[in-house]
Amino acid sequence: MRHATAKFYDRAPAVVESFEQAVISGLSASPKSIPCRYLYDAAGSTLFDKICELPEYYPTRTETRILDDNAAEIAALIGPRAQIVELGSGSSDKIRVLLELLVSPKTYVPIDISAEHLQSAAETVARAHPSIPVAAVCADYTSNFDLPQVLEDGYDKRVAFFPGSTIGNMTNSEAVAFLERVRHLCGPRSDLLIGADLQKEPSLLNAAYNDSQGITAEFTLNVLHRINRELDGDIDVSRFVHDAGYVPERGRMEIFLRSEVDQLIHAAGRGFRVRSGERIHIEYSYKYTIDGFRDLVASAGYTPVHYWVDAQQLFSVHYLRVAA
Ligand code: TRP
Repeated sequence: MRHATAKFYDRAPAVVESFEQAVISGLSASPKSIPCRYLYDAAGSTLFDKICELPEYYPTRTETRILDDNAAEIAALIGPRAQIVELGSGSSDKIRVLLELLVSPKTYVPIDISAEHLQSAAETVARAHPSIPVAAVCADYTSNFDLPQVLEDGYDKRVAFFPGSTIGNMTNSEAVAFLERVRHLCGPRSDLLIGADLQKEPSLLNAAYNDSQGITAEFTLNVLHRINRELDGDIDVSRFVHDAGYVPERGRMEIFLRSEVDQLIHAAGRGFRVRSGERIHIEYSYKYTIDGFRDLVASAGYTPVHYWVDAQQLFSVHYLRVAA
């Protein structure tokens, strides 16, 4: 039981843009937007967990299935004495099966911005795998930070893990910049295991983001409730609708909140005019072809080693290596 407790390193940014600043600048801009990270307050996180259980929302369960079904092969590619660095580890759910199959893993390094969640997830992993040292790093993986010096050696290979097709919430140029940062963070002899949602029949994509129980609509509309709760807002949420659609030419889901009427809303001590039909941008979610994704990662300096898809080819998981 040498490592039954996780080590904790704080690399959180000193100054973080507040929800208030983000809402003021997002609603003052044209077109209007609210960054999707603000969807995940306590209520939003609960709703998102429900989304992951929905029959229409295939990504989470499909990726988990691909990782579990191919865990032995993935573990063999990773090899012995690896350090696993998970970016945005949340509950550390998707790594567990893999951790069990790795040969003499050196360290599991979960990275997340939410310190509390990170600490409890790291302790859970440490208890479940007493022989694997867990070194949790609280950091914003979307900006620059360094890994603690003590994690720099003592492993044969470092493998970054970035599941969830979260890469798809970045534009292609943001994704390339992000992957280049991961490459620098993990060093020249590192691999990357990454999930990428696939292009498919638009009706399946549209259903995944417009479920029949209306949970996804509740999830996006919750950000308006959050503005009312936290920023003393007066938004009549019933005058907005969830608007999500797949745009095949751009290969992405486009997710908005749309105003049904001309209205003046207030929040954070300011007024914002919203036209009837005007949309507040929430998120894009890019969907890839295997070749398109390989081209994308190649521009960031990664070479494909192997990839896996599910039987219905809904989702893909890629094993990549830093190009020589
Ligand atoms: N980022 C995830 C995705 O692209 C999460 C998500 C699912 C989401 N449904 C949503 C984000 C609706 C905003 C709105 O699949």
